[in-house]
Amino acid sequence: MSSQAASSVPVAVLISGTGSNMAALIDAGQTAASGYDVALVVSNVEDAGGRAIAAAKGVQTLSIPHKPFGKDREAHERAVDAALRAAGVEVVALAGYMRILTPWLVRAWEGRMLNIHPSLLPLYPGLDTHARALAARDAEAGCTVHLVTEGVDEGPILGQARVPILSDDTPAALAERVKTAEHRLYPQVLGDFCKGLARG
Ligand code: GAR
Repeated sequence: MSSQAASSVPVAVLISGTGSNMAALIDAGQTAASGYDVALVVSNVEDAGGRAIAAAKGVQTLSIPHKPFGKDREAHERAVDAALRAAGVEVVALAGYMRILTPWLVRAWEGRMLNIHPSLLPLYPGLDTHARALAARDAEAGCTVHLVTEGVDEGPILGQARVPILSDDTPAALAERVKTAEHRLYPQVLGDFCKGLARG
């Protein structure tokens, strides 16, 4: 359970799968000086592993599958948005949420929705970032936390972390190294962001 000061900003984390970034965000949020508290985890995938992890940490979770909404992406997003509003959430953190958002949800949370992406943006937006960094023979890789805007992986950058690329790297090995960096970067950036909001 949370030991938050009253000024903590209530945050929702949106996931689709493993939820390792979500877990790092929850853990950091439960420390006294974090500036935020994860109040809700929403998954668009019913059996996403992250839901059980969040529940074990005392965080409310919701599954809002996109499939029943068919091609109506905005209708799914309206259901997600209603859940976020009902929970009193003020900031949304996408953490491995593998949906491209419509302009409607982006505008609804403009300036209050963050995403983590496993590359040094503007390099490698989209998928397969680690394989692309290796194919390009880059010397380093990393991750980026940015504000969400209508262009995919294009919003203003709030923070980045770099890791070396090793000569015998595989996409999986590089992904693991980057994820370790993600787990440090995202709580730090989200905490600073929420403290900035609290200061007005
Ligand atoms: C993370 O590496 C995150 O950066 C990436 O998905 C992974 C989710 O892992 N996100 C994207 O690729 C978004 N375009 P997690 O579920 O263990 O946090």
